[in-house]
Amino acid sequence: MRHAVSTAPLDAFGYTDPLGRVELREALARYLTRARGLRTRADNIVVCSGAAEGLRLVATALVETGVREVAVEEFGLPAQRGTLTRAGLATPAIALDAGGADISALDGSPNLGAVLLTPSHQFPLGVALHPDRRAAVVDWARRRGAIIIEDDHDGEFRYDRTPVGALQGLGPRHVIYMGTASKSLAPGLRVGWLVVPDHMVEVVVRQKGETEENVGFVNQLAMAEFIDSGAYDRHIRTMRSQYRRRREQLIEAITQRTPGSPDVAIVGLPAGLHVLLTRPGRLVSADAGRPAWKRLAVEPLDLFRHPCSTSDLDGVVVGFASPSPSAWPGALDALVGLLQ
Ligand SMILES: Cc1ncc(COP(=O)(O)O)c(C=O)c1O
Repeated sequence: MRHAVSTAPLDAFGYTDPLGRVELREALARYLTRARGLRTRADNIVVCSGAAEGLRLVATALVETGVREVAVEEFGLPAQRGTLTRAGLATPAIALDAGGADISALDGSPNLGAVLLTPSHQFPLGVALHPDRRAAVVDWARRRGAIIIEDDHDGEFRYDRTPVGALQGLGPRHVIYMGTASKSLAPGLRVGWLVVPDHMVEVVVRQKGETEENVGFVNQLAMAEFIDSGAYDRHIRTMRSQYRRRREQLIEAITQRTPGSPDVAIVGLPAGLHVLLTRPGRLVSADAGRPAWKRLAVEPLDLFRHPCSTSDLDGVVVGFASPSPSAWPGALDALVGLLQ
């Protein structure tokens, strides 16, 4: 950040293009093409204050183009549902199973103008969208002139194989891709990006007003340099191996140290910064938030459930990224203690 300030061009100190700094958009276009298989150019990228602001821009842009309904997965972030609802959109739920969202259900809803998905790693269940369904949803969007909003919140963090490419690569004219630095770096940075098809760039950017209001130029230029220097890739590789280890330790601790809890099952792919533990819902949620958690994020699955979901899945979602290395063993002990 110090280097970004000291080498910034003079115009960076003024109001910035509403798309965001061109240095960051060009760096992101190269990175997303290389690392996530996107098909994009800098002109299709809109810098935003995290995926949260990105979705707000997309929601009001969709309303402006006549969309009234956006399907969402039956488990997901309530804040995202709230953003869509506040924009005036109805948010019917689509069911989830081991292959991700039930894409075949979309054809039965003639009023849908878009669908919000977490295809690489469903949040919070942790499954991936089956390859047949990836193709099917792009086909649905193409046939219906609809938009897929792809939330790629932790796509880089796959531990058992090379990460699956983003859905956007299969249908760049039908997908609005949302990316974020919240999981790769830190939520407090508030840096995110949209990749928008040509025909929607203008309407999405118009939602911002005249200038980029939310992401300061220091963050944008520092992020651009971080990516272009190769340091971002190195950081992702380092964190991937650390999170893989944490996830393995967490699973090992639960399976070996809670033999009296045969009901506890770990759901989802070896990926991401969360695991879903099914069954112990009431037990753990009653104790969530205790200081002993040492920054483990423990939330009841119910928090993420769509009001119309008919799923009987129960459990808790455990985010394991935040504890410091010194707090990690204690956090694991606290979690195991509660499950015992
Ligand atoms: C499913 C999902 N999408 C997106 C995000 C990121 O949102 P933001 O970029 O606004 O911090 C998160 C949280 O980190 C998330 O869990």
